[in-house]
Amino acid sequence: MPTETTMIADIQAVLKNYTDDRDNLIPILQEVQEMSGYISEESMDVIADYLDITPTEIYGVATFYTQFVFTRPGEHVIKVCLGTACHVKKGQQIMGEIINYLGIQPGETTEDYKFTLAAVACLGSCALAPAVVIDGEVYGRQTPQSVKKLLKEIRES
Ligand code: FES
Repeated sequence: MPTETTMIADIQAVLKNYTDDRDNLIPILQEVQEMSGYISEESMDVIADYLDITPTEIYGVATFYTQFVFTRPGEHVIKVCLGTACHVKKGQQIMGEIINYLGIQPGETTEDYKFTLAAVACLGSCALAPAVVIDGEVYGRQTPQSVKKLLKEIRES
């Protein structure tokens, strides 16, 4: 994980590719997020300074776009499906097991930044319900036991 200082230097390098026109805000945010995985408060300050707007204005614009993440995600991102097909197959129990095991709620990251948990509406893998996606890989037909085993393996790896 890069330090905050290197991150700021990287963001300044990104800004060099853009004029200070406010219309460049979204492409700048996209590039920063692609580079860092999220948009930190410090990044927001640097961008705000460059475009001569307030961080609050940036936040206001950026929150319209669900693609932007404002907190540092964990090393492993777990998405638990709570869509209809998964709900019918007790997806909520899978979520409950993960909440218990990691001690975090959906939208949160563990203190060691190992895991981020998210609830999603449908992963597009309904035939595999109940499904979870971990680091982009779909794990279908989960049970509370199998998902806990998966997380244990990841935690110990
Ligand atoms: S409802 Fe869960 S994958 Fe579609």
